[in-house]
Amino acid sequence: MLRCIECGRFYRGDEVVYRCECGGLLEVIVDLSRVDDVFDGKDVRLWKYERFLPVRKKVSLEEGGTPLYRLKNIFPSLRVFLKNEGANPTGSFKDRGMTVGVSKALELGMDKVLCASTGNTAASLAAYSARAGMKCYILIPGGKVALGKLSQALIHGAKVIPVKGNFDVALKLVMELSSDLRVYVLNSINPFRLEGQKTLAFEIYDQLGEVPDNVVLPVGNAGNISAIWKGFKELAMAGITKKLPRMVGIQAEGASPLVRMLKEGGEFRPCSNPETVATAIRIGNPVNWSKAVRAIRESKGLLESVSDGEILRAQYRLASKEGIFVEPASAASLAGFIKLKDLHLVDGTTVLVATGHGLKDPNVVLDRFSLPNPVDPDVESMKERILNH
Ligand SMILES: Cc1ncc(COP(=O)(O)O)c(C=O)c1O
Ligand SMILES: [Zn+2]
Repeated sequence: MLRCIECGRFYRGDEVVYRCECGGLLEVIVDLSRVDDVFDGKDVRLWKYERFLPVRKKVSLEEGGTPLYRLKNIFPSLRVFLKNEGANPTGSFKDRGMTVGVSKALELGMDKVLCASTGNTAASLAAYSARAGMKCYILIPGGKVALGKLSQALIHGAKVIPVKGNFDVALKLVMELSSDLRVYVLNSINPFRLEGQKTLAFEIYDQLGEVPDNVVLPVGNAGNISAIWKGFKELAMAGITKKLPRMVGIQAEGASPLVRMLKEGGEFRPCSNPETVATAIRIGNPVNWSKAVRAIRESKGLLESVSDGEILRAQYRLASKEGIFVEPASAASLAGFIKLKDLHLVDGTTVLVATGHGLKDPNVVLDRFSLPNPVDPDVESMKERILNH
């Protein structure tokens, strides 16, 4: 069953519908009387929480169960953890959404799937649709998708079409095309995808043994922050937990319409020319903005923005101090946390969500480093180079 978050109207779960007639976003209502307390810290993986998920079929590449590390070198005296979503099958948290979303597509009898993507959604949908034997169409912003992600989409056999425009333009086109072409849209406007992503909350609670005080994550189209908040609320509504975390969303300065709205007040206004090195969150018109605003308000959370410089410094710090290589969008979590901590706006146990693997976007690293000239192959020259550089 689906319910409109604006007017409360219900829709059947077996209809292909993305928005309410009133224009509001839809969310899945789960029967929480059916769930059980499986949170014993063992065998953590997405389908462990099957009873919370509104699908019967299962298209899986064994997603979830990603590591939760304490950042003991960067914050030796604080309880700061990092959930490394780069360890999912295609290297990002999107796999959580796609295992459920593509399973739903199969249940609905769809054989074609479509999305607009800044890259990770494309990589993930291409892989899961290949697994399910479906045709996959992907619209990407021309010239602005990281190399690793693009190569994934291509090798999984998706039809990849660059659009003359940014992500927001591509998503608008996808929504217009969906009914004409009888394809199933698997952007985060699809409420079933968010059901998969809410398992991030379940795993954090399962691995940590408690609900943290803060969950910090990058915000682009704002699906993930809404999904994780729904997960924590369901845990509480089912009587499994009592506490709820504060949801802390981080946007890139050049693509921060939600931060602007919450700081300045007033209506939501998209940002028309989003720009940031973190291409995954280069989004000016987040489709799930109303769900995200609800998550921030209900959780007494925060939204903050960080500069590209702060993002790249945080990416280097994580990789060089903790051994964890994340893509720029994911480093926004750490950059945002540092900024808020210095302003004394966050304390207590914190989980940073690192949404995607660093290898997704190798150019952003290679552009900043250069190799020295090759050294003569003798021990003396090599010793000289090693000791003097
Ligand atoms: C690595 C990464 N981080 C964060 C996000 C933003 O997630 P959302 O669009 O759900 O806010 C994306 C979305 O593409 C992403 O690929
Ligand atoms: Zn409605």
